[in-house]
Amino acid sequence: MLSWDEFHQEEKPAPVAQPRTERESEPKAEPAPVAAVAKPAAQQVQAPAPAPAAAASNFESNLEAEDEKNNAEALQKAIDDLQELDISAGLEELEGSAERVAVDDKRMINCRADLNQLVPFKYDWAWQKYLDGCANHWMPQEVNMNADIALWKNPNGLTEDERLIVQRNLGFFSTADSLVANNLVLAIYRLITNPECRQYILRQAFEEAIHTHAYQYCIESLGMDEGEIFNMYHEIPSVAKKASWGLKYTQSLSDPKFNTGTPETDKDLLKNLIAFYCCLEGIFFYCGFTQILSMGRRNKMTGTSEQFQYILRDESMHLNFGIDMINQIKLENPHLWDAAMKEEATQMILQATQLEIEYARDTMPRGVLGMNAAMMEEYLQFIANRRLVQIGLPEQFQGVSNPFPWMSEIMDLRKEKNFFETRVIEYQTGGALSWD
Ligand SMILES: [Fe+2]
Ligand SMILES: [Fe+2]
Repeated sequence: MLSWDEFHQEEKPAPVAQPRTERESEPKAEPAPVAAVAKPAAQQVQAPAPAPAAAASNFESNLEAEDEKNNAEALQKAIDDLQELDISAGLEELEGSAERVAVDDKRMINCRADLNQLVPFKYDWAWQKYLDGCANHWMPQEVNMNADIALWKNPNGLTEDERLIVQRNLGFFSTADSLVANNLVLAIYRLITNPECRQYILRQAFEEAIHTHAYQYCIESLGMDEGEIFNMYHEIPSVAKKASWGLKYTQSLSDPKFNTGTPETDKDLLKNLIAFYCCLEGIFFYCGFTQILSMGRRNKMTGTSEQFQYILRDESMHLNFGIDMINQIKLENPHLWDAAMKEEATQMILQATQLEIEYARDTMPRGVLGMNAAMMEEYLQFIANRRLVQIGLPEQFQGVSNPFPWMSEIMDLRKEKNFFETRVIEYQTGGALSWD
């Protein structure tokens, strides 16, 4: 990787050929003013034809004069156009009114206040998460992949079932994070009318790009068939179903003509947030994360596991941010959270859980890494209960418990340092809104 030292080295100017003494102690005489050397026109006409070198010099100075004239004309045009500028036309393009914003003017959706005034903050939790996200910055190339490459290339390094888990998960995640990023940028960003939330959404979008980069980095490091891996979301049913389920909720919102402002369209946005934050990031990622982190715990594919661990830390915050947004929208728009919407949200979480259970069965035809599909099913039901409660809905699966308590420990990274003994990986601050 390029270090800052190298960066500064590259920026140094090339050595100058002239010795210092000559440049500084013997300054050249100022050229005479143009007027003093100019000859009368008549004299110029009678002068003998210039030597070839002098002709070239004249040609160059003519070109320079022409350039100067063009530049002056371009600058004058810019000045003239600015004098005719109608500022009100530009201001109309700005979102919201041009008045100074008070905290009470701010709203999560359908806000009419100026969206370019970040402060005063209303939703401190959103700004805090933006700061926390920035404090947790990481890049995939920081993770050493050498042990993974050796293990992956060793024909006896992993069992076929373990290989299937690595391939399927890189296949699912390499495109799933793109779907999430696209949904953020192309669908929800313009519909969330709050600048501190938008600030976090921009941070999240960049993190999704880093996650896609991390999966690509693993796939390339391991020398996998990139076409096969990146096309699993078309070709492998258990992967394709999850991707198309998510896409269903982004379709209408990514239409540039879509807008919120009616109960129906506001509910469409709410459903999109539940689909992407609670279901995609909050359920669809959990079988794969558990499988890959279980490998890392067994000292297998430790580089890939470490990448997934950083991603899981980011994803935990994305999920918490999404839940805070959903609950804030409910609080400000209680009419949206009616019986039909609650029923639909419950159904969405149940469907997502079912798809993730199918994915667990497909990726674990037999017991592997100290887990099996039945244990994963219980874990996913436990996760689904949590997602339901987090958005104020009753649990749907009675009597389930967490068969993988170590996953909770990994997610609560404030307690956990050097899980794989590589580098410190703790959150610097907390900051989730409590809805109890
Ligand atoms: Fe992600
Ligand atoms: Fe995410």
